[in-house]
Amino acid sequence: MRVAVLHADVPEGAPLDELDTLVQVAAVSRALEALGHQAVAVPCGLDLGAVEARLRDLAPDAVFNLVESLSGAGRYLPLVPAVVERLGLPMTGATGDGLYLTSNKLVSKAVLRAAGLPVPDWVSAADLAAGGSLPRGRLILKSVWEHASLGLDDDAIVDPVDGAALVDALASRLGALGGEAFAEVYIPGREFNVSVMAGPRVLPVAEIAFRDFPDGKPQMVGYAAKWDEGSFEYQHTVRVFPEGDEALLARLEALSLQAWGAFGLTGYARVDFRVDAAGRPWILEVNANPCLSPDAGFAAAAERSGLSHQALIGAILDEALGRPLPGLRLSGGVMRPRPVPGRQVTVSLREALRPDDRGAIEEIVRATGFFSHEEVEIAVELVDDHLEKGLEGGYHFLLAEREGRVVGYACYGQVPATTASWDLYWIATHPDQQGTGLGRVMVDEVADRVRALGGEVLFAETSGRPQYAPTRGFYLRTHFTQAALFPDFYAPGDDRVVYALTL
Ligand SMILES: Nc1ncnc2c1ncn2[C@@H]1O[C@H](COP(=O)(O)OP(=O)(O)O)[C@@H](O)[C@H]1O
Ligand SMILES: [Mg+2]
Repeated sequence: MRVAVLHADVPEGAPLDELDTLVQVAAVSRALEALGHQAVAVPCGLDLGAVEARLRDLAPDAVFNLVESLSGAGRYLPLVPAVVERLGLPMTGATGDGLYLTSNKLVSKAVLRAAGLPVPDWVSAADLAAGGSLPRGRLILKSVWEHASLGLDDDAIVDPVDGAALVDALASRLGALGGEAFAEVYIPGREFNVSVMAGPRVLPVAEIAFRDFPDGKPQMVGYAAKWDEGSFEYQHTVRVFPEGDEALLARLEALSLQAWGAFGLTGYARVDFRVDAAGRPWILEVNANPCLSPDAGFAAAAERSGLSHQALIGAILDEALGRPLPGLRLSGGVMRPRPVPGRQVTVSLREALRPDDRGAIEEIVRATGFFSHEEVEIAVELVDDHLEKGLEGGYHFLLAEREGRVVGYACYGQVPATTASWDLYWIATHPDQQGTGLGRVMVDEVADRVRALGGEVLFAETSGRPQYAPTRGFYLRTHFTQAALFPDFYAPGDDRVVYALTL
């Protein structure tokens, strides 16, 4: 199948943490290709219209979402999933909502605390301005939206004497921390990462061990430890899979599963912990869609559980495909069909049905391979009905001819008892016309005709089964939007997906 690998458009010379996205794109694409899929990298910038148009054009069977920021800003991370979800495409990992709730560290901490989970106490500059008090103990200054330890070095740990001093400290680091920052109680102690796969199930717990840190040097995984291979911090922080400590590891696993549930996560996630001197675990953050580079923590934990990188990518894709298609209900997204530049199709279109069209239409519908025997019969019955009663029967036809031969047709009509709703009952092109843009020309023509007859929205429906992915892709490319999904409508496991084109 065709998988769009979505990622942030990373400019040349971008910082190392952003360039890591490209490492992930390459590794994930390689795994997808090895699994027999076609991986198409789709770089995303702030122009969401361009992202949407690219996805409509590509009409992938699924989207592998590796977007961690847009235009260098973590704050924009939930926007791309929103576009994918609105198109109704299956997407790996967390939903846009899941990504928003986990990536905004202030929102995330509030959600965790409300769920009764242990998070270090915190305060923002806004809290202080509103009379909030300074938490007790040493504090670490952190970014609200940025990840990858951006702006975290030894100087991020502070001991302010009062609220005003903290506000000053936050202000002085604001630039390094991506523009929005807060302070959190610093927890000295051990650090653990728990990777969770959909299910949910936990993978082996990893510890980041701090080796030979000089006395007084904060033991933490700051920017240097993550990205600067030549630094002391990088070389003296080591991922290990601890043995023993069963009670503690079981506690970390249980807390991770609770955190997964608190955010309603899907896909895969990694929960970062500190464990204080008294052995109490504290959740630092929940990373939805954590890094999937082969040498990053998630893949290491998967490997440890016997799952190769390729198998991991396959499992993540399968889980996304196994979810019900997002059953969106949309209010009036206006999409007008547009001519496709460079796709001139020489074809003549006519409305009037002739008796000899009956055989041609039967042949086209049958040849597509998409319709059952009964459906082919229904298609022919509608032709007979129209030949007998004309427009009285309520069915309109559009026939496409090339060099005197009927190569495509559409059948549409107003939905009885509605003011301006129309159904596109049938649209089919002969398989030997595929890729010529004929289907799009016919949709545009039907849309024009329905609009001229006072129609305001054109509906089309198809099955949610995998073999109908090309049909669903066709509707997306021709500017329909998924309007509704009826689970198990045609048969158990066979959803009905309804698309709408606002005229
Ligand atoms: N409250 C804290 N106490 C101790 N160390 C912390 C704390 N918050 C962050 N750190 C250190 O900084 C690293 C990055 O912080 P984290 O909250 O995980 O943000 P990021 O999204 O940048 O990974 C952590 O892995 C940890 O080493
Ligand atoms: Mg982290």
